[in-house]
Amino acid sequence: MAEQQRILHGVDMLTERGRAEWDAAGIKVSALVDNPFKRDFPLLATNANLAFLDSAATAQRPQSVIDAQKRFYETLNANALRGLYRLSVEATEAIGAARAHTARFLGLSDADARDIVFCRNASEALNIVASSFGGMVLGPGDEVCITIMEHHSNMIPWQQVCRHTGAQLVYLYVDESGAIGEDEIRAKIGPRTKIVSATHVSNILGTATDVAALAKAAHEVNAVMVVDGAQSAPHMPIDLPALDADFYTFSAHKAFGPFGIGVLWGRHELLDAMPPFLTGGEMISSVTEQDAMWSPVPEKFEAGTQDAAGIYALDAALDYIESVGFEAIQMRESALVHTCMHRLSELDFVRIIGPADPAAHHGVVSFNVCGIHPHDVASILDMDGVAIRAGHHCAQPLLAHLGIESCCRASLAFYNDSADIDKLVSGLKHVWEMFHG
Ligand code: ALA
Repeated sequence: MAEQQRILHGVDMLTERGRAEWDAAGIKVSALVDNPFKRDFPLLATNANLAFLDSAATAQRPQSVIDAQKRFYETLNANALRGLYRLSVEATEAIGAARAHTARFLGLSDADARDIVFCRNASEALNIVASSFGGMVLGPGDEVCITIMEHHSNMIPWQQVCRHTGAQLVYLYVDESGAIGEDEIRAKIGPRTKIVSATHVSNILGTATDVAALAKAAHEVNAVMVVDGAQSAPHMPIDLPALDADFYTFSAHKAFGPFGIGVLWGRHELLDAMPPFLTGGEMISSVTEQDAMWSPVPEKFEAGTQDAAGIYALDAALDYIESVGFEAIQMRESALVHTCMHRLSELDFVRIIGPADPAAHHGVVSFNVCGIHPHDVASILDMDGVAIRAGHHCAQPLLAHLGIESCCRASLAFYNDSADIDKLVSGLKHVWEMFHG
C-alpha cells in the first residue's frame, strides 16, 4: 500500500529532473502555441473551442485519411482478391501496397509484408494470438505471463485460453515508478512460461514497458513475446527487430487511421504453424465436403471480405505520420506532457497518477480530483469544451492494484496545443469551484 500511495500521490511537484527537462524544453513548449498540425484535422479545425484530450481512446483523422477512404469507394471499389477484372486487381494491389507500407512502418522490409495480417482492431489481433497460438501450445502446468497494466484486450483473451487449456495466468506487477523490475521478471518468467504478453505503453500510467528486457527473459525459457502496441505505434517509431518481439499488434484508429482496421504482425514460422482463428471465404486453398486446406499467411487469418477502403485509408494514415515524422511527434508530445504535468501539479486538489517524471509518460496523464468522482469531473469539463476519458479505462486490475476504482485521463497527441492545456486547467478549477465554491 505504501508503494501504491507513492504512485498515486508522488507528483505534487515535478521532480528535479522533470523540471529541468521542462525548462530545457522552453522553446519547444512555445512551439505548442498555434500548432500548425491542428489545421490538418477537420474536426479540430472546425471546432476551435474543443480541447480534444482523448486520443488514447481514438485519435482524430487528418483530411488526407478521410479523403483516401472516400477515394477508394469512388475509384477503386471492388472485392479484392476475388475478381480477375481490372478494378478488383487494383483493389488487391492497394491492399498489397498497404501491407508492405505497414511492414516498413514497423521497421521491417517489404518481404515481411506476408506476415502482416489485417483484422478489425488490436483486440481481435490479440484474440488471434491467444486463441490460435495459445490454444496450440498451452496445456496444464504451463504459464502465460502478462503485466498488471494490461488493457482488458490483452488480459481477457489470456484468461479465456488459460481456462480452456488448464494453463495458469501469472502477473508481473509494477514498482513505484510504474516499471517492471528485474527481480519481478526473474521471479515470474521461468521454465513453465510459454507466453509473455505485455502492453508497450500503458493506457493509464503512460509508461513504456521495456519490451526488449521481457523478450530476452521470455526467449531464455523458449517462451514467445507478444506486444500490444495500441498505445505505442501512434507515438514512437517501432523497430520490431530491435524489440525482438514475436507478435506485435496495433489499431489503425488510434494511429490517425480508420476505425475497423487492426494489424497483427507475427514471426512467419509461428503464423505458419498456427490454425486459423476465423474460417470462411478466401482463407482456404481447397475445400471438400468434409475438409479444407488453408491458404498461406496472411490470407489464412483474413476470412471473409476485407475492409479494403479502411486498409487503403490506413496506408494514407501511415503516409501522414511519416510526413510529420516521429521526431516532431515526440518533441511536441513530450513538451505537451511536461506542460500538462507542470500545470496540473500547480493545482493542489489534483493528484497525478503514475511516475513523477514527465519523460516517463508517453502521451498520457491520468489524475484524480480530490473527493470528486471522475465521471463528475469529465461531465463538467465537457461543459467547458474539454474532452477527457474518465472511468476504469478497460484496465480494472491495474486500478485495483493502485487502490482506486476510477480516474480521469488526459491523452495528448502532437495536434494538441497549449490552449488545450489552458482549457483543461481552467476547466478543473471550474470543477473544484462547483463543488467547493
Ligand atoms: N483502449 C482505449 C482507451 O484506453 C479505448 O481509451
